Amino acid sequence: MNGGNSLRTPIIIANWKMYKTRAEAASFCDAFLPLIADNNDVDAVICAPFTQLDVLQNRLSASNVAYGAQNFYPVAEGAFTGEVSLPMLQELGVQYVIVGHSERRELFKEDNALVQQKVKAAYTAGIQPILCVGERLDQREAGETIAHCAGQMLSAMEGLSEAELLTLIVAYEPIWAIGTGKTATAADAQEVISALRSAVAEKYGNTVADAVRFQYGGSVKPENIAELMAQPDIDGALVGGASLKPDSFAQLVNYQK
Ligand code: 13P
Repeated sequence: MNGGNSLRTPIIIANWKMYKTRAEAASFCDAFLPLIADNNDVDAVICAPFTQLDVLQNRLSASNVAYGAQNFYPVAEGAFTGEVSLPMLQELGVQYVIVGHSERRELFKEDNALVQQKVKAAYTAGIQPILCVGERLDQREAGETIAHCAGQMLSAMEGLSEAELLTLIVAYEPIWAIGTGKTATAADAQEVISALRSAVAEKYGNTVADAVRFQYGGSVKPENIAELMAQPDIDGALVGGASLKPDSFAQLVNYQK
């Protein structure tokens, strides 16, 4: 079953967070690639820690799987101890980068202003940002989900060109569903993502709104992917825990089979 709008290619992204050694990343690729080799209907991406990016470059370059980073600092170079720049990621052939993940917002105090700067900088460097938005449980209970997520999203979209907006990927990840085993129901995820798409339409028009790819993230697993992807506005998934094992991530990428 092909979920979402057929004009938008489904995109399933692994977020490996702070997991895996280089050796484990290599053996993941060896096991994973044969399982999805004949799947050309879905964009598959692995976003790994910095130390694994050259391993992915070696293993994935000849495959139909892309790879990305999980962070960068939006300055070309300088005295920023511990940070990694976009030119450093370009050197490793990185095509995607996650921006605004709730773990970075909450644990590392990244605010909307920095997220906006990072989204623009990634585009300028030719690296596709995956913009994450999502509400805390207390915000959901207070009925603030859509206003909060739309606010995060629209602020991060400020200053983008039409060409950039057309390729945007937005991941809706309710914080209370991340790593908890509690998935938003497919209907809840559809409701929020549909409202986010409408907010894009209102500000930027239907052409942009129809082109932006929206993912759901938060306890996505082989058992719930098909129902999520069957929703008209859900074009993909951003996956943590269930992306760490080759079999399980392959089942997610192969959700149509
Ligand atoms: P889980 O799939 O482990 O809930 O993580 C979701 C997430 O944060 C992906 O970015």
